[in-house]
Amino acid sequence: MSNSFRQDLAVRPRRIRTDAWTRRLVAENRLSVDDLIWPIFLQEDDGTSDVPSMPGVKRYGPDCLIEAIGQAVELNIPAIALFPYNNPDTKTADCREAYNPDNLICTAARSIRQHYQNIALIGDVALDPYNSLGHDGIVKDGVILNDQSVEILCKQALVQVEAGCDYVGPSDMMDGRIGAIRDTLDDAGHTYAKIMSYSAKYASAFYGPFRDAVGATGALKGDKKTYQMDPGNSEEALRMVENDIQQGADMVMVKPGIAYLDIIHRIKSTFGVPTMAYQVSGEYAMIKAASANGWLDHDAVMMESLMAFKRAGTDAILTYFALEAAKIIKS
Ligand code: PBG
Repeated sequence: MSNSFRQDLAVRPRRIRTDAWTRRLVAENRLSVDDLIWPIFLQEDDGTSDVPSMPGVKRYGPDCLIEAIGQAVELNIPAIALFPYNNPDTKTADCREAYNPDNLICTAARSIRQHYQNIALIGDVALDPYNSLGHDGIVKDGVILNDQSVEILCKQALVQVEAGCDYVGPSDMMDGRIGAIRDTLDDAGHTYAKIMSYSAKYASAFYGPFRDAVGATGALKGDKKTYQMDPGNSEEALRMVENDIQQGADMVMVKPGIAYLDIIHRIKSTFGVPTMAYQVSGEYAMIKAASANGWLDHDAVMMESLMAFKRAGTDAILTYFALEAAKIIKS
C-alpha cells in the first residue's frame, strides 16, 4: 500500500455516503408507521395463547383484545388485519361459521369499533379457518368448488362489513370473487367498503406457522396448488392483478413477501395501483429463530427486510413486526 497512489477521479460515489446527514438527504426510500398493517389472531376464550412457531405472536381473547389494539392505536398504525382461531367444534364442511354475524371476526370488529374509531379493520375473507377440511374453499369429493365457495365468501364479506370492518381482504384465490363481493357489498349499500385483494398469492411453504396460528394445520389434506399460484410464475401474477382491478379491487397484494419482491416491482411498475405485500408467518419465524440463536441482529434484519419492501415499490406491508417496527421508527 503506498500513500502516494491517487486516482484522478471526478466521480467518487462514496462522497454521498461519508456522513450521516448526507446519507439522510439522499435516501431514496423511507419506512414510516403509515406503511404498516398489523395482522392479529383472535380466539374465543378469554386470555391469550402463544403460537409456538411465531415467538412473540399471541392469539387474543375478547378480554385482552382492546388493550392489544390500544398499542397499535397508540403507535398510530393505520390498519389491523383480523384472523380467527376457531375452536374445532365450529369447523364444518359447509363453513357456515364464516358468515355467522356473531363469529369471532364480527364480534371483535364490533367491540374494537366501540373503543377505537381511528384504526382501519380488515376482515380476512377465506374459508380455511372455518373448514373442517382446512381448505380456503368448499371441498366436494376432493375438489375445491369455485362458484359455491364464492357464494359463501360473499356472505362472509357482508357480515364482516356490517360488523364494522372497513376493508375485506379476500385471501382465498377463487375465480371471480372480487367482482362477486363488490356486487354483494354494493347491493347492501356498502359502496365505500374497500377490497384489498390477495391477487398474487402463491402456494407457498412459508405459510406453515400461520396455519398453526389459526389451527388449520391438522385439518388440511393435500396442498393448495389448485387455487394458489405456482412460485415459478410471474406473468400470471400480472394477469391476476389486471383481472382483480377490473373486478373492483381497490388494492392488490403479493404474498409471500421477501421472496417475491420482483413480483411487487413488476405489478407496481405495470399498473401503478396501491400494492400491498404480506411478510408472512414463515418469514417472521425465520428472523425470530435466527436472532434467538444469536445468528442475526433482530432489529437490523427486521428493519432491512421492511425497507426492501419499500424499495420494491410496496405501499404498505402486512407484518407481524408492525408494533416492534413502529416503536423503532418512532424512537
Ligand atoms: C389463508 C391464509 C393463509 C395466510 C393468510 N391467509 C395461509 C394459507 O393460504 O394457507 C398466511 C399468512 C401467513 O403465513 O402469515 N386464507
